Amino acid sequence: MNIRMATPDDLQGMQACNLSNLPENYNLKYYMYHIVTWPRLSYVAEDHKGRIVGYILGKMEEEPKDGPHGHVTSISVLRTYRRLGIARRLMVQAQEAMADSYGALYVSLHVRKSNRAAIGLYRDTLGFQVSEVEKAYYADGEDAYGMRLALHPTE
Ligand code: ACO
Repeated sequence: MNIRMATPDDLQGMQACNLSNLPENYNLKYYMYHIVTWPRLSYVAEDHKGRIVGYILGKMEEEPKDGPHGHVTSISVLRTYRRLGIARRLMVQAQEAMADSYGALYVSLHVRKSNRAAIGLYRDTLGFQVSEVEKAYYADGEDAYGMRLALHPTE
């Protein structure tokens, strides 16, 4: 499995992966905005045929109140490619770039309270902690956990 930085050519593949996995969908402009503004914070995983099987869409918080920090807007991996460590690798790549390229002090994200797989990834594998509960954060009324992980430069 090859993991590399996302480019504008990947937008359709990333969107297809998103549509098949998550109710939170974005228009192509929003993907493009991430890739053009923070080119080192979005990655794709591709199979041997170059098909996109996973992605992470990351950004820096644009109006931080407490120092520079990154944010994971969206991550997903196609069903048949799960539990292979792809999401962990995508997260680590983005986290390292947030700290090394942008001086991020921590990374934040939102996740549905019911999303056992993603919470397992963030909390158990990567060490994130819940920083807040946001009531009815999602369009269908479900609460979100706001989660955070402190970052340190690796370079
Ligand atoms: N149940 C419990 N723990 C899980 C599960 C699961 N189904 N899947 C992953 N984990 C945890 C485990 O601790 C796992 O380590 P292990 O396999 O050694 O036990 C660890 O996460 C790492 O797993 P990966 O293989 O790296 O994760 P994967 O590539 O399967 O992707 C993801 C995880 C992205 C959550 C995937 O299940 C997915 O695409 N789900 C649908 C989309 C989604 O929910 N995205 C996150 C929304 S929140 C946001 O985008 C900020």
